Amino acid sequence: MASLESFSDLKKAQVQAFDDSKTGVKGILDSGITKIPSIFHVNLEKSTQNSPTHESSFTTIPIIDLQHIKRVELVDQIKNASKNWGFFQVINHGIPLHVLDEMINGICRFHEQDAEAKKPFYSRDKDKKVRYFSNGKLFRDMAANWRDTIAFAANPNLPNPEELPAVCRDIVAEYSKQVKALGVTIFELLSEVLGLNLSYLNEMECAKALYIMGQYYPQCPEPELTMGIAKHTDCAFMTILLQNQIEGLQVLHENRWVNVPPVHGALVVNIGDILQLMTNDTFISVNHRVLSRNIGPRISVATFFMNFTISECTSKVYGPIKELLSEENPPIYRDITMKEILTNYYAKGISGNACLRPLKL
Ligand code: OGA
Ligand code: NI
Repeated sequence: MASLESFSDLKKAQVQAFDDSKTGVKGILDSGITKIPSIFHVNLEKSTQNSPTHESSFTTIPIIDLQHIKRVELVDQIKNASKNWGFFQVINHGIPLHVLDEMINGICRFHEQDAEAKKPFYSRDKDKKVRYFSNGKLFRDMAANWRDTIAFAANPNLPNPEELPAVCRDIVAEYSKQVKALGVTIFELLSEVLGLNLSYLNEMECAKALYIMGQYYPQCPEPELTMGIAKHTDCAFMTILLQNQIEGLQVLHENRWVNVPPVHGALVVNIGDILQLMTNDTFISVNHRVLSRNIGPRISVATFFMNFTISECTSKVYGPIKELLSEENPPIYRDITMKEILTNYYAKGISGNACLRPLKL
C-alpha cells in the first residue's frame, strides 16, 4: 500500500527525472506517449474548467485601437479596461505584423530544434539572462504544467548577441526593442488615466527591465488532465502578450472564465500585481490561465515589465502612489522593495496574487 510519504517520494523522483532530461514537455511528447505522466495531472483545477468557459463565449476583453481614436476616448477605454478587466488587447500599436509573426516563428524554431541544441540552455539558475526550462516552479507546484519556456532578461538591454540562441537571435533583439517602446507608450497612457504626469510610471522605472518568456505549449494527448499554465496573476508592473492562433488563454472576469481569442496582429496587455499595488487597487491584476489542447503547438511570448533576477533588481521602493491617496482612499498595501517582492515570489508556488497577499495592511 502506497503511503502519502512514498507517493511524494515517488513524485519527487519523477519530477527530478523529468528535469534531468532537459528536454521538457516537448521531449515527453516526442517520445511517443499517449498518456501524460501523473506529475502533470491537475484534477481539482480541471473540475471547474468546462462549464464557466463556454457560458462566457459572448464576452471577451476589450480591444483598443491605439491610433485611430481621439486621445480622450483612448484614455477612457484604457481606464475602463484597467479597472474592470485588468486585461485588454491593443491593435494599431505600431509593431509591424512581420515582427510579430517572426517572433512567434523564432520561439517556435528554438523549441523545435534538436534536443541536443537546446540542452546547453536548460537551467534553473534564476540569475541566468538566457535560459530554457520547463515549469519555473517545478519543485514547488502541486502539478507540473504542459509547457516549456525560453526566457530572456533585458535589464535594461539583452545580453550580447552571442549569448542568445542563434535560431532566434535577431528577432528577439528586434522584438524586445519594439515591445519596450510600446510599453513606454502604454505606461504614459496609464499615467494619464491616473491623472498623473505622463512620465510618472516610466520615471518609476516600470519599463526599464523586461523579462521575455517564449512559451511553447505542445499538443497534449490528454488535455482534460492538465493545464498549459495554472491559474495565476503576473508578478510584474504589466505584461504584453503575443499569441499565435491557437486558443487557450482565459481570464477570470466576474467569477467566470472568459476566452481571449487570438486576434492576428493584436497584443494582449494585462496589469500586473505591482501596478495593482501602486494604484491601491484602482487597476486590477486578474487571474488567468491557459488550457492545454489536443492541438498545437500553442506559442506565446509574454513580456513582463519587470526584472526577475534578484541580484540585479532596482533598489527603488514601491507602494501605493502618494498622489492617489486620500482620506477616502487610504493605502491598502505597505511599501516594499523589489528585492522583497522577488523573494516572496520565488518562495511561493504559482497561485493567485502571490505577490500582494503578504503586503495587505
Ligand atoms: C504567463 C501567461 C499566457 C499565455 O506567461 O504568465 O499568463 O498565453 N501566459 O502564454
Ligand atoms: Ni500570466
